[in-house]
Amino acid sequence: MTIVTSLYVHVPFCRHLCNYCDFYKQKFDKPHAQREEFAAYLRSSIERHESIMREQSAQWAPLQTVYFGGGTPSLWDVEGAKIWKGMFPLATNAEVTFEVDPGAWTPEGLTAWEEVGVNRYSVGTQSLDAEYLRILDRAHDRDETFKLLRHLAGKNFSVDFLLGAPQGLKNRDVINELEELLSYGPKHLSLYILQPAAGYKLKAKIPDDEITSREYLAVSEYLRSRGFHHYEVSNFALPGFESRHNLRYWHGESVAALGPTGTGYFAQGPERAYRYKWKPGRAEVEIENLTLKELELEKLYLRLRLSEPFRIDDFTGVMDFEKRLESWQKRGLVLRLDNAWQMTPAAWVILDSLLNELFSAATT
Ligand SMILES: C[S@@+](CC[C@H](N)C(=O)[O-])C[C@H]1O[C@@H](n2cnc3c(N)ncnc32)[C@H](O)[C@@H]1O
Ligand code: SF4
Repeated sequence: MTIVTSLYVHVPFCRHLCNYCDFYKQKFDKPHAQREEFAAYLRSSIERHESIMREQSAQWAPLQTVYFGGGTPSLWDVEGAKIWKGMFPLATNAEVTFEVDPGAWTPEGLTAWEEVGVNRYSVGTQSLDAEYLRILDRAHDRDETFKLLRHLAGKNFSVDFLLGAPQGLKNRDVINELEELLSYGPKHLSLYILQPAAGYKLKAKIPDDEITSREYLAVSEYLRSRGFHHYEVSNFALPGFESRHNLRYWHGESVAALGPTGTGYFAQGPERAYRYKWKPGRAEVEIENLTLKELELEKLYLRLRLSEPFRIDDFTGVMDFEKRLESWQKRGLVLRLDNAWQMTPAAWVILDSLLNELFSAATT
């Protein structure tokens, strides 16, 4: 029996469709009708989800973590909170995260969502530089971000930032942006390297890997000097403020999903897992039953993204794993601890090539 206590909900509305973005979303131009339509879609997906859970011997327990991701959940506003109310029981100390776009929220909406359990926000800041906000095709400006950050003062909030932005007229000073941002008291930051959608018109202006790697390592060093723990490739937290929800994915634990293109995962013991992905706009899923080999590779892939130390015997399928780790240690990419190994930001910056090396050596 799989007990499910985590849920991701994908809310697919956006006020403006940013030109780099590859996530499934719809332009939110008929608010009332779109909210109603989404509510009806969610109800039928929940019915379908119940049948998946019966087939897979999975059962809900009060939710420990919920994540409303986008699109732009803050556009769901007061009406969405009313629809959501009472749909899923929450555990008393649940972490409930809600993504907010600085240009698409209302104070009443956030209050209504807090009343139904939201206690953590993720703010789609991306940059604090006016020129780079324009280059990134964002619909919000600096002042709108500051207004939201002031509204969230004293609350538990995270901030999303994009690195590797197309080059503007002046060089971007991300450290300066982060310094300004930290004065608002975020407990957590996610810094993603831009991976634009196909056909991105500013592709030629994207900096090369060497420049982006320098930017990534500089922000890592800066945030660590300000007391943030670089606990996952793209994520930084003050102690105790790591995303409990995302740690469940990275630890290979069960996380259910609802909403178009949301992906759910049921861990079914050491040798089996079931993954389902919602088909856009339909209450139907694509299914993947993971084989033992796929599970082992995925466990390795996820584990190496975290700063938590790992042991060689946690992974059985990689040939000469210890020799490879020793060679990485000589290159300053991993640390050798007493009985374990630990990844560093220098390894994460070339993670794809390190994973290729390991995956080609995976045997089982
Ligand atoms: C799915 S978006 C939802 C958040 C919200 N819609 C926003 O943009 O403010 C979550 C985060 O993914 C990141 N993101 C979106 N498109 C990306 C891309 N093409 N490459 C890297 N990160 C991206 C952004 O930092 C964004 O805040
Ligand atoms: S980046 Fe966020 S706001 Fe922009 S289109 Fe994608 S999901 Fe919507």
